[in-house]
Amino acid sequence: MSKVTVQSPANIAFIKYWGVKENTQYIPYNDSISMTLSGCQSTTTILADKNIREDIIEIGQDGTYETLKKTTEKNKKAYQHIARIRAMAHVKDNVRIRTKNSFPSDAGIASSASGFSALTAALLLAYGLPHIVSDKSQLSRLVRLSGSGSAVRSIYGGFVEFLSGDENTSIAHQIADEKYWDLVDIIAIINTEKKTVSSTQGHSQAVTSPYFQTRLIELQPRLKETRLAIREKDFSKLGACIEADTISMHAIMMTSVPPIFYWDSGTIALIQEVIKWRKEGLEAYFSIDAGANVHIICEKKNTSLVETRLENIQLVQSTIYNEPCAGVHEVKEHLF
Ligand code: PMV
Repeated sequence: MSKVTVQSPANIAFIKYWGVKENTQYIPYNDSISMTLSGCQSTTTILADKNIREDIIEIGQDGTYETLKKTTEKNKKAYQHIARIRAMAHVKDNVRIRTKNSFPSDAGIASSASGFSALTAALLLAYGLPHIVSDKSQLSRLVRLSGSGSAVRSIYGGFVEFLSGDENTSIAHQIADEKYWDLVDIIAIINTEKKTVSSTQGHSQAVTSPYFQTRLIELQPRLKETRLAIREKDFSKLGACIEADTISMHAIMMTSVPPIFYWDSGTIALIQEVIKWRKEGLEAYFSIDAGANVHIICEKKNTSLVETRLENIQLVQSTIYNEPCAGVHEVKEHLF
């Protein structure tokens, strides 16, 4: 059997999903909308062969690879996903997998999005099911079953919506491709420690927040407004939606039982900076996923202004520059 290598971007959710209806189908409570991130990529190489004794996933970090142990729910899900796709292909071959990220893993930069979308597409290709990779509805459903909803949005490039719905209709569709709008997401890294509460855990307890139903209601006009803002390329309208939704999702996190705090003091400091920049005439907006790091969204023409300001803020350890990019796709260079 030959090797297959796939690359997938992470994405930043402008409208976020937090909460799944039940965790065998992983259907989100609400629709979400995102942009793919050129600077945050996972690359995954798979070899399927009958001579491999057991499935093995190796994760690359700083040039070395470590075997992924089945110690966390997320790691177990990766191995279960291999078994799921192998069963679909009606074959018995085990797999050797190597994967690496171009950015810090598990620091709220949606490494599960790029990781699980790359894993799914690579497994399908390695097990001889390329027609499923080409059929984006089928691919959507299968990526969703991996347990990472954000990964569903990484199958397309550019601006993507992941619909709630039922087991058949909860899929992704592309709103506009990666060339449509020159937006930039500069991620300000202030903390690279692994998050203490997994998003799997967070999704399951979201409904315990007394404000969860309110979020589902207030989200509906915001979703409409976000789709419209993208259609009209209205950056001010989009930015207002992005920030409102970040605050709304984190309010659910902080008020669920037990509460989850992903922000640290640096997160608040950066939020205040971005608001100050706007008052000074630099239009940028913040977005934060399940971690402390802050995504700063601006128009491409303002990139260097934002970068220069971030360079002068001591708590910012580094930045990652992102533009909208292509979704999951096969590449020729293998990792082993
Ligand atoms: O894809 P998951 O299950 O890791 O959840 C991701 C959740 C957020 O990143 C916080 C929001 C989102 O929609 O991406």
